[in-house]
Amino acid sequence: MSETSPAAKSFYVTTPIYYVTAAPSIGSAYTTVAGDMIARWHRQRGESVWYLTGTDEHGQKVLQAAEEAGQSPQDFTDGLVAREWQPVLDVIDASNDDFIRTTDERHTERVREFWQTLYDAGQVYEGTYEGPYCVACEEFKLPAELLDGADGQKLCPIHQRPVDQISESNYFFRLSEYADRLLALYEDNPTFVQPESARNEVIAFVKQGLDDLSITRSSFDWGIPVPWDEGHVLYVWIDALLNYATAAGYGTAPETFARTWPADVHLVGRDILRFHAVIWPAMLMAAGIDVPRQVFAHGWLLVGGQKMSKSKATAIHPSQVVDHFGSDAYRYYFLRAIAFGSDGSFSWEHMTAIYTSELANGLGNLTSRVTAMVCRYFDGVLPEATDHGPAEQALADQLAATVATAEAAVDRLALHEAIAATETYVGAVNHYLAEQEPWKVAKDDAARGRLATILFTAAESLRAVAVLHHAVMPKSSQQIWDALGAAAALGPLAEQRVGDAGRWGQLPAGVTITKGASLFPRLADNDD
Ligand code: MSP
Repeated sequence: MSETSPAAKSFYVTTPIYYVTAAPSIGSAYTTVAGDMIARWHRQRGESVWYLTGTDEHGQKVLQAAEEAGQSPQDFTDGLVAREWQPVLDVIDASNDDFIRTTDERHTERVREFWQTLYDAGQVYEGTYEGPYCVACEEFKLPAELLDGADGQKLCPIHQRPVDQISESNYFFRLSEYADRLLALYEDNPTFVQPESARNEVIAFVKQGLDDLSITRSSFDWGIPVPWDEGHVLYVWIDALLNYATAAGYGTAPETFARTWPADVHLVGRDILRFHAVIWPAMLMAAGIDVPRQVFAHGWLLVGGQKMSKSKATAIHPSQVVDHFGSDAYRYYFLRAIAFGSDGSFSWEHMTAIYTSELANGLGNLTSRVTAMVCRYFDGVLPEATDHGPAEQALADQLAATVATAEAAVDRLALHEAIAATETYVGAVNHYLAEQEPWKVAKDDAARGRLATILFTAAESLRAVAVLHHAVMPKSSQQIWDALGAAAALGPLAEQRVGDAGRWGQLPAGVTITKGASLFPRLADNDD
């Protein structure tokens, strides 16, 4: 894929769109940070990338939150989006290319057209829905999956809150007709649903057979009006899922849509896997649109063993963490400390430990030692490596292997493995310095060539680390790039190809090295 060809297919990555019921939490920001690393990594491969996020604003759950706040749902969502959901993207340094709201006209009009087309094609029929519904999930539940609560109440297995019993005249989508085609999709495209545990769960679910899906609601009106029957609104999920297509130009900008669609990866939490891996592809099949290439389900951030949640007051706002550690450390921690695809627990203690050992004492200390020594012993001019021997070659070889490992890991969305590979390499460079002891070599005037070689080797390693970590820690990587004086010789950091980062000897002797501000300062003991 080439960035010079305007017609090249974009690498299209999405987050779920977030319910605007309250402020964001580190739970919802988790998906956005992961998507951002993937988007930045692919940009650094020279691909044209489209990274989408946004907000899900219709439905009963948002309506109830607005009512509790004493506002109309439109005013309520306008306020929260402007005050919270858009600003948080800067807080976590997200590089999204677009932000879609399901109340945008570009979305609502296309959604109506989409469902009118399916209605006209006989894919929708009128019936009655009777059964349980969880407003917190905005999901029709199967009686068999409910938990028993007190007084014979039935509880949602995810929220452990009572479900509503609904009995409404609705319209239904013929989802049951798509089970075989969906199973064939999973069979023919083993990476369509990932990781494997998610894939197995989806296959087992569809093998049980699918019920038709109720796609309208008539007991409230906060939603997109059904085009053929204005007394109903569309069920929030079948409106929300279409955001991925409407934001990419479906129905309005055919050339953009052709360049962007199908999405390369939809990132979703495991709680919303079925919507994306079952209902969404069936909707697209019914409309004759290509299905996405992959749905990847990540795990939950847990507090006390349970999904962190606003309703249980266990949610932490991203700013609370970023104010203390900075946005780079925030991104690094969540992507490095939790295996992408598994659940993980956040704790301040764990984050402090990782920050101190891997960032402050690891990468930060390495950068400041190397730049300080080049300044002190070579007046800030990077010397030539005249004595490249086995120890240096071992680091060069390890770097090449690190880049290959990281690239393959990102392809599998094992984001934590890519970061771990770079972190291991940083450790190896620190180890090299500890063994070579340049501060002792510096005392021997006859060993200038050796000293030059050691410092060149460490600086060249840092050059590669800046490229490898750029998708994870854009600000600190830029600081490293600046301290190395790399831009003058190699160009902007963002234009360095990640696949080329392992080629040894790119930073030329003679560049001006400066000792910048500390990358990861010591944490304040008490900042409240
Ligand atoms: N609005 C729907 C998604 C529609 S997509 C067409 C929705 N919104 S949500 O705000 O409830 O959740 C959005 C995403 O945030 C989900 O992927 C969910 O898994 C993720 N997270 C919310 N809390 C989370 C944690 N505590 N941990 C990890 N991710 C979590 O569902």
